[in-house]
This record gives sequence, C-alpha cells and structure tokens, in this order.
Amino acid sequence: MEKIVIEGGNRLIGEVSVSGAKNAILPLMAASILVDGWNVIRNVPSLRDIKTFRDLLLHIGCEVDEDPEEKTIRIRAHEITSFEAPYEMVKTMRASILVLGPLVSRFRRARVSLPGGCAIGTRPVDVHLMGLKKIGCDVTLEHGYINVKADRLIGTRIYLDIPSVTGTENLMLAGVHAEGVTVIENAAMEPEVVFLAESLNRMGAQIRGAGTDTITIEGVRELHPAEHTVIPDRIEAGTFMIATAMTRGNVLIKNCPLEYLDSLNLKLKEAGVDVRAENSGVRVIGDYPLRSVDIKTLPYPGFPTDMQAQMMAMMTISSGLSVITETVFENRFMHVGELKRMGADIIINGNCAIVKGVERLSGAPLMATDLRASASLVLAGLVADGVTEVSRIYHLDRGYENIEKKLSGLGARIKRINSE
Ligand code: EPZ
Repeated sequence: MEKIVIEGGNRLIGEVSVSGAKNAILPLMAASILVDGWNVIRNVPSLRDIKTFRDLLLHIGCEVDEDPEEKTIRIRAHEITSFEAPYEMVKTMRASILVLGPLVSRFRRARVSLPGGCAIGTRPVDVHLMGLKKIGCDVTLEHGYINVKADRLIGTRIYLDIPSVTGTENLMLAGVHAEGVTVIENAAMEPEVVFLAESLNRMGAQIRGAGTDTITIEGVRELHPAEHTVIPDRIEAGTFMIATAMTRGNVLIKNCPLEYLDSLNLKLKEAGVDVRAENSGVRVIGDYPLRSVDIKTLPYPGFPTDMQAQMMAMMTISSGLSVITETVFENRFMHVGELKRMGADIIINGNCAIVKGVERLSGAPLMATDLRASASLVLAGLVADGVTEVSRIYHLDRGYENIEKKLSGLGARIKRINSE
C-alpha cells in the first residue's frame, strides 16, 4: 500500500503547471460514444479516474488509443458490443453514470448500475433519470440497475431540482439527437459544463447557453468526431494556490484558469494572500499572516465544494475563527477528524464546521477518505511540525497527477513510499 510522507516546514517557492481538468475529460470521453470515428482529446493527465473510465469504454466495445507522452487519448465507438455499465466498474467511480446519456442518445438503450453512495454522501441520480423520462425514455430500476430504452427522443423543457453537474452533462449528451429542442433549466454552470457544450458543438451539435442556468439543445441527426484540448483543472490550481498561501510561499502557477476561480481568489485576498495575474498564470505570495474567513460552498460560480477541504486546512492555522458551511454534499467533513489528530481546533455542527486557528499543527499518521479530503491532509502536512504520513492515497491519485513530484519541485519535503 502506498503512502505519502511529508516533513513540514518548507516554503513553496518556484513554478508549477496545472494539468488538464479531470471533470472536463470524463464527460468528453463519454461524448465519444456518440460518434463512429476517432475523437481526439489532448492535455489528458495520467489519473486513476481517467483509467477507470477508459476501462468502462473498452468494456462496452469502444477502441481506445492512448499516448501518455503526448498526453492524448483517442476514442472510437465504431462497434458498441455492450450497453451495460456493470456494478463492479460503476461502484469505483460515480462519474460512470455519464455513459447513460450518450448510449441512449445514439442507441436508444442502456443498462447502468446505480452508483450507490460514497464517502461524501448518498449521491442519488434522480435528476438524471427525471430528465431522461421527460424526453421520452422508459426508465426502470431493478436489481440495482437503471434500465433505459426509448423509441423516440422528443425535445422538451426540463427543470432540474438541483443544478447537478453530471446531471446537466448527461442530459446534454442525451439531447443532442432528440427531435426538436431540449431546454435544460436550472442547469449547472461549471466551466466543465461549458467545455462539454463547446466540444459537442465542435462535433456538430447545436447547443447554446452553456455557462448560464438555461441550456438550449437543438437536436441534430449526426455528429462527427473532432479534436479537443482540455481546459486546465481549476481545482488542482486552487489546491496549489492554497498550499502556497499556507506555507508562506511564492509560486507562479502556470496556465492557471483564474477566470474560473473568482470566489476562491476573493476569499484568499480576504484572508490576506497576495494573488495576482502574471504572464499566462497566477502568482501567489503568502508572506502575510493568514486571517480567518467564512466559507459557504455553493454551485458554480459560488465557492466550490471541491475546494472546501483544502480551504479548511488553511483555516486551521489562520488567526481567528472561520465558519465553513457545506451546502452541496451532506457528508463532506471526513477530513475534520484527521485534521484534529494534527491538533486542529474544529467543531462540527450539522453542515457547519467552526475552525479556530492554532499556532502550529503537528505531524501524524493520517488516512485519506476521499479525493479532496486527501488533498487537505497533504496541505496540512506541508505546514505541520514533524512528519505526516497519509495512507490510502489512491484517493489522491484519482484527481491529482504526481502531486508529490509537483510539490517537491516547489521545495516541499515530500515523497511517496510503498509501506509494504
Ligand atoms: C460533480 O459531481 C463533480 N464530479 C464533483 O467532483 C463535484 O464535487 C460536484 O460535481 C459538485 O460540484 C464530476 O464532475 C465527475 P452533483 P456530481 O450531481 O455531478 C445531489 C471531484 O472532487 N444530487 O452536482 O456527481 C448530490 O447528492 C468530484 O472531482 C441529487 O440529489 O455532483 C449532491 O449533494 C467529487 N440528485 C449535489 O446534488 C441528482 O440526481 C451535487 O451533486 C444529482 C445530484
């Protein structure tokens, strides 16, 4: 079992590059099911979730050609041999649900395991299924599987009770071949949703309004493959911004999509961190004492839930009291217990965590529970006295490419060991 071992106390100094966005790549890999030819995706990092999705595409009959050197993945759905996403694959990654929309769109049928819950919540898919029913699908649930079939897909207005990110993406993918116009209201507005709409339009779709709460999809008969270059990962970028601030560092984060990080940027400045655009990136300087700030996670453009755990790590050593409210997921405080083992002063009250800044954290053996929680433990280890060991780092590898290499390149004393 691999672990990450950190000796805290070093400032992060230097330059680091942000990789392609996992949450933009996965829906685009799913979109490749819609076309017979080779869909080309560039700027693809080596991440566990991307490998998992690749295996799912191979399982249903897609051909996948990867070039890790070129960070490129090519996908062709020439002959789909299965319309089923099995439980063994879906249970490891909820985003597998994204094959539902394209399979229904192109083949009018799909059988996808219900994703089940995960560490951060029950994570139902009712929004996805409601939308499919609205455009004419027959949806039944049996033996833990979602069975979908449709004779015709008819465009209509769909209102999402929750602006679900993958729910919006699935329904866009389902609507591209529906007859007439499909309007998704209360749609998610994340940059990754916009990227998917732009990518589908490159493939011949007619989608307007992505990035607003109303997305209009005019059904077309045929799509064609295209070449796509993935947007940078705003969550990875934000993670490095916070790491720099916490260690009182000075780092240029290259190709950092600051335009997608407004809410984080404002909160970092409120906390006393110097953030400024420089060349095609962002320079972060954490010379100043950190002030506690209050955070409330919200759908985009609100403060991202995927940055909550990392921001909490920073608040554990800021001067004052911070109230962190998690409104998106029902159980996204799994990192609190581990941070408290390092001496953090945190009280949970429902979906609020009250964080009182302490002088120093102390290193300890910790266990990662989910992707972003594991990132927050690494950040805490960077500033803690002594040695911190983070186990179960397969959570980390789902969404961060070589994080220990990138951090040690900035001066952190961090390494990956095999604990056997
Ligand atoms: C996407 O998950 C991201 N994953 C998540 O990133 C991110 O945390 C989340 O959006 C919120 O921004 C991908 O894009 C692959 P949701 P998704 O549907 O689409 C409830 C990471 O760290 N809900 O927007 O699954 C749900 O339970 C991952 O990279 C319903 O009730 O999130 C949750 O409480 C973690 N019914 C809330 O809405 C539904 O049908 C937001 O979920 C769908 C969702």
